[in-house]
Amino acid sequence: MRYGIFSDVHGNFPALQAVVKALAKESIDEYYCVGDVVGYGADPDECIRLIKELPAVCVAGNHDWAVVGRVDVEYFNSWAKSAVVWTREHLSQEGFDFLNQLDMIYENNTIALVHATLPHPEEFDYLSDINKVTAMFPLIPKNICFIGHTHVPEIFIQQPGRSVWCDTMSVQVDQAKKYIVNVGSVGQPRDGNPQAAYCIYDLDKNTMAIKRTRYDIHEAQKRILKAGLPPFLADRLSSGE
Ligand SMILES: [Fe+2]
Repeated sequence: MRYGIFSDVHGNFPALQAVVKALAKESIDEYYCVGDVVGYGADPDECIRLIKELPAVCVAGNHDWAVVGRVDVEYFNSWAKSAVVWTREHLSQEGFDFLNQLDMIYENNTIALVHATLPHPEEFDYLSDINKVTAMFPLIPKNICFIGHTHVPEIFIQQPGRSVWCDTMSVQVDQAKKYIVNVGSVGQPRDGNPQAAYCIYDLDKNTMAIKRTRYDIHEAQKRILKAGLPPFLADRLSSGE
């Protein structure tokens, strides 16, 4: 059994298409999306349709819920706020209904998904330091919890007595340990690498790897500018910052 996990697509259809193409070569059995399907990018409906087609199990991100009015946009920065307003104005009813039915947390027998942090996923806090990671580990309902939100791929491992940050993008999974895996972002990476990120978890081989794929950044930028979204949202895709 192989899982393909991705997050923070943010309406970037060329990036999502590239990730889906890369995952199609990886014999994936089940797909998971850790939220923020929309916001920032110019193709929210196309991204939602492709996620439904896969199909991918999906949880809610702050942008998804902001678009449907379930999260206050007041704490969003001006670019994010403009993108939420634009997405609301352009999203189909079908797209709205998809976002509106997303839950905060998903779990099956082996993994959990939550966009941001526990115990209060609806606060959309950022898992920004190792103390927060240590505090979250006892709360994750399964040994492996996939997250997104920061747009920075990272793997954290709970060893006896302490949490550690893993300095590689692939690990051999030890079922006696716990893992929090930030799968990075498909549509707006912020770790200095503009390539789209995704993760593969092989449950039989116990391997986990975060991978990257090139996509047509220029096309995504053209669509953002044509849509009248803030030009900064197009510019930042080149640097992945
Ligand atoms: Fe995001």
